[in-house]
Amino acid sequence: MRTQYCGLIDESLLGQEVTLCGWVNKRRDHGGVIFVDLRDREGLVQVVFDPDRPDVFETAEHVRNEYVLQVTGVVRDRPEGTVNPELKSGKIEVLGHGLTVLNASEPIPFQLDDPDVNEDTRLTYRYIDLRRPEMQSRIRTRARVTGFIRRFLEERGFLDIETPMLTRATPEGARDYLVPSRTHPGSFFALPQSPQIFKQLLMMSGMDRYYQIVRCFRDEDLRADRQPEFTQLDMETAFLDEEAIMGMTEELIRSLFKEVLSVDLPDPFPRMTHAEAMRRYGSDKPDLRVPLELVDIGDLLKEVEFKVFSGPANDPKGRVAALRVPAGGQLSRKEIDGYTEFVGRYGAKGLAYVKVNALADGVSGLQSPILKFLPDEVALEIMRRTGAEDGDIVFFGADKAVTVNDALGALRVRIGFDRGLAEEGWRPLWVVDFPMFEWDDRGQRWQALHHPFTAPATDDPAKLREDPHNTLSRAYDMVLNGTELGGGSIRIHDPAMQGEVFKLLGISDEEAENKFGFLLRALKYGCPPHGGIAFGLDRLIMLMTGGQSIRDVMAFPKTQTAHCPLTDAPSPVSRQQLRELNIQVKLPASEQG
Ligand code: AMO
Ligand code: AMP
Repeated sequence: MRTQYCGLIDESLLGQEVTLCGWVNKRRDHGGVIFVDLRDREGLVQVVFDPDRPDVFETAEHVRNEYVLQVTGVVRDRPEGTVNPELKSGKIEVLGHGLTVLNASEPIPFQLDDPDVNEDTRLTYRYIDLRRPEMQSRIRTRARVTGFIRRFLEERGFLDIETPMLTRATPEGARDYLVPSRTHPGSFFALPQSPQIFKQLLMMSGMDRYYQIVRCFRDEDLRADRQPEFTQLDMETAFLDEEAIMGMTEELIRSLFKEVLSVDLPDPFPRMTHAEAMRRYGSDKPDLRVPLELVDIGDLLKEVEFKVFSGPANDPKGRVAALRVPAGGQLSRKEIDGYTEFVGRYGAKGLAYVKVNALADGVSGLQSPILKFLPDEVALEIMRRTGAEDGDIVFFGADKAVTVNDALGALRVRIGFDRGLAEEGWRPLWVVDFPMFEWDDRGQRWQALHHPFTAPATDDPAKLREDPHNTLSRAYDMVLNGTELGGGSIRIHDPAMQGEVFKLLGISDEEAENKFGFLLRALKYGCPPHGGIAFGLDRLIMLMTGGQSIRDVMAFPKTQTAHCPLTDAPSPVSRQQLRELNIQVKLPASEQG
């Protein structure tokens, strides 16, 4: 139906006849001449209709925005002074002599160039929203990225293998999406939270190198970087250790950034232990663009009278840390109150601070509501340890370590960006040496920090049993600008070790057999050492395209409440369907009527 894309026509086609198809981006009537900006996936071209061809001109008079047209015309120079350097087609226009309206359009619910359309409307009319050039560009970048990844991995011997969507629960720490079975009344499939167990089974099958660009489902609280269904680049290899896997996957990310963004990422990526990341940044996914760091001061505060500090300083699970902000002394009372409210969202009970006016004057050069609670030498030692200088402010967090890390870790990034202290650019790193387990206070039990198939740093189940608290795992996370891009590990390939880990996690033999018996059995039939990783593809593309949310890089995402305004899913189903599934619905009182 066409000879060219609208957006690709340029002066090389001067004098030639072209046939174009596209949408009316804008139609202007200039007293006797009609201009139509015709848009397709590649961009815009200006089409001119003049009254010399009355039938065509008549049709052109009736077209409106978003009509779908087929236009035949001749490429010619634009008149002097009307060249548009922003467009590839900006030096030329097409003088139309043929025009077919392929389809009309009602007035669209929002203008494509309106920056203030609310997201619900955009998602309800996603097919129109996707016509916007920035959405087109993001979705096309996504396709370029997946194409590149496939070529890279296939060159290195990875096989693309599909795994089931209707399956059993794979524990990745979220709630499952369940699918009722009609043929097995009362039983449910789970949609995979990840293909974790299947990719391990494929290594046991001798496939050696597997990858998949695969949808995963997790019913968890949604945020800007979380969706109920999202896409992983999932990989697994046999006979490679963590060095080889990390080396190959960082090479993949480096080549991808070079190819798509012409950006050179560091070679190799820096590495940091989990303990160091928590100590210096209060986070296991530190944003290294922000130079601010947490400094421990608990040892100085064990004896002070100020209970807010001495309590956590003497609590083995407590932490007292300081965050120095250069030139932060200019912060107003109102700004400090704002930050206090901000850390409150992470559970902090307050945000003590000291303003540094003149260090040469000793404590009288400091200004703070908490100085009266601190011995002079302690206050001065804190200033020394944080490296504070005149004009700075030092903030404090004192609480359980988790709370201080969450609160000051988030404050560090927030203030870094608010105060223009963050660097531009890309700061990837690996976080390694994670603990195997973390203690779940609410459930009063150990939880796997990664997932229960991750190998501990020791090969001896007895050693693990002796000291689960201090055992590290062979897991690694790739972090980019404060976002966890991917995570993986070397897996357990010894059935005794896998049994031990289940036991430590409080999974009884019976439950282990019921849920994972097939995996425990498979480990006994010649399982190679293996390991892998999964990247959050949506997050990767969000970062690469500068999007604010992974919704911006998914063609058809869900809202914050896991709803699709376009199709209105999820939705009630007929009684007949429920009866076939032997399901009765009982709504909570709040939802009835
Ligand atoms: P993990 O649970 O860390 O590991 O997931 C891997 C990566 O997937 C992305 N991700 C998400 N992206 C969008 N929305 C979500 N709800 C969401 N949840 C996770 C993150 C994360 O780093 N099977 C293991 C991998 C392995 O061990 O090989 C796994 O799924 O970017
Ligand atoms: P208060 O004695 O509660 O008035 O607190 C004195 C100062 O310490 C105030 O600036 C509070 O914001 C701050 N503060 C209180 N609790 C904490 C805490 N857990 N961590 C850090 N600062 C705190």
